[in-house]
Amino acid sequence: MKAGARQLNPALLVVFVLELCFYSASNSSELQVCDLCYGTVRAEGAVGQFCSKSAGRIEGRCCLQNDTAFDHNLIIGLDLSNCSLAQVGNIQDASAARIIDLSLNPKANISDTTFQGFIELDRLILPIHLLCPGGATSWKKIEKNGDQRLCEGQNSMCNQTVQMSTVCPENSQCAPFGPGLSQCSCAADYHGYKCLREGKFPVVQVLGPLGASTVVFSLLMWVTQRRKAKPL
Ligand SMILES: *[C@@H]1O[C@H](CO)[C@@H](O)[C@H](O)[C@H]1NC(C)=O
Ligand SMILES: *[C@@H]1O[C@H](CO)[C@@H](O)[C@H](O)[C@H]1NC(C)=O
Ligand SMILES: *[C@@H]1O[C@H](CO)[C@@H](O)[C@H](O)[C@H]1NC(C)=O
Ligand SMILES: *[C@@H]1O[C@H](CO)[C@@H](O)[C@H](O)[C@H]1NC(C)=O
Repeated sequence: MKAGARQLNPALLVVFVLELCFYSASNSSELQVCDLCYGTVRAEGAVGQFCSKSAGRIEGRCCLQNDTAFDHNLIIGLDLSNCSLAQVGNIQDASAARIIDLSLNPKANISDTTFQGFIELDRLILPIHLLCPGGATSWKKIEKNGDQRLCEGQNSMCNQTVQMSTVCPENSQCAPFGPGLSQCSCAADYHGYKCLREGKFPVVQVLGPLGASTVVFSLLMWVTQRRKAKPL
């Protein structure tokens, strides 16, 4: 047993290092967006009020869901107001956010892809010079308020009555993909390019190696932790 633990298989080490990189990358990048600028969520701001109502946890510029059942940090609110933002870069880590405040950034600019995938986004506060992403048809209500523009409630681009309604290929369905955006997702039992392949998605083949490496990682942790604990 002892010898086995000492002579670590190089392949296991590689897996171990890979897993470490994977976990630390996914953890730190999630919080990067919360540190995009100095300070924390303003308590009296829209995100601050939303966060206290939702019993969220404030970390930097983010409101995180305070749910211990979740082992990762789900960002439900993002307050980047008064951040001297220019081009708003990658904020994809906050794609589950329900409220985002970009006000008081007189030079801020957003691109067509900034809010791609933000399907939960229900309130977006912009400096007045920016238009609501996706245009007027993408929101239920648009309001001007001093130097702010408020975009509220996303309209689904999959609605047949909306002009821009996407035509999806056969065997697929239109699904919302953020303000003014939609994507076609394959119906059950179809996958691949244009959903032309029939049959179950090969879950086992795709997830297999990852699952196996997780088992190996857990075993490795168990062995090393146990060895550390023994001298006590
Ligand atoms: C978050 O949850 C923990 C444990 O349930 C609790 O002790 C803590 O007060 C909560 N924080 C906030 C800000 O609600
Ligand atoms: C914006 O931030 C600056 C410091 O970075 C601060 O002095 C100012 O009061 C803030 N403005 C508002 C409206 O919060
Ligand atoms: C804002 O971004 C758009 C596209 O991302 C670009 O065409 C435009 O020139 C930018 N405006 C400014 C003032 O930088
Ligand atoms: C589709 O759009 C119409 C008109 O804009 C609206 O009355 C209806 O509620 C929308 N349906 C859905 C499912 O969003």
